[in-house]
Amino acid sequence: KGYFSREHKMAGKKVVVTAGPTRERIDPVRFLTNFSSGKMGYAMAAAAAEMGAETILISGPVSLSVPTGVTLVQVESAEDMLQAVEAHYETADYVVKTAAVADYRPEAMANQKIKKQEGNSTIVLERTVDILKQLGQHKKNQVLIGFAAETNNVSQYAKDKLTRKNADYIVANDVSEAQAGFESDTNRVTIYGKHGFEQAFEMMTKQQLARQLLELITDKEA
Ligand code: CTP
Ligand code: CA
Repeated sequence: KGYFSREHKMAGKKVVVTAGPTRERIDPVRFLTNFSSGKMGYAMAAAAAEMGAETILISGPVSLSVPTGVTLVQVESAEDMLQAVEAHYETADYVVKTAAVADYRPEAMANQKIKKQEGNSTIVLERTVDILKQLGQHKKNQVLIGFAAETNNVSQYAKDKLTRKNADYIVANDVSEAQAGFESDTNRVTIYGKHGFEQAFEMMTKQQLARQLLELITDKEA
């Protein structure tokens, strides 16, 4: 298989993939997070590497092994992820934002374990930086691919995110559907692009889907 074979369509390209959840610390023993397993993001990184790309995988805490040929950068919080992505952004050809980044973090982290007291308690939250939106604002030739897990109004929310974040594609899935959620090995998505581009995929494994998504995107961007 040669350098320019169909199998190595992404040869010479640098792909940055973010995956998994982020953790936002409350105190030394507690944090806020979400149900992201990292499976879709790891599958995207594996597919990019198989297609010949130099692949950087910036991952929140997950229990998955690093795919062959992929460079792993481990991060914890949304802020860490932002910094890691920014360090690679300039030289990236494709940025695939599969990560489920926390939208809020505790305004302050307690340095000592918070002790329980009588009655209720309140944690004050502040917004994290929207990494994809930030990348969209400073986009040069990079192709930006976002992911959106929705429970309702999937197409409307996906299209909103495409414009709001200046992304090139949003891959959306309905997590209320069986076998298309966070822990699942399968997924069923619709990809939305500029100029009203829209394509629905069948239910398939996250590995197969990752490959088909990257094939589609590289063909369209060629
Ligand atoms: N994203 C990001 N930084 C954030 C939040 C989201 O980069 N702080 C990215 C995700 O990695 C994903 C895309 O934006 O690729 C869409 O994430 P999603 O949570 O669906 O979008 P939000 O704008 O946070 O909207 P929502 O209110 O639906 O959570
Ligand atoms: Ca969000």
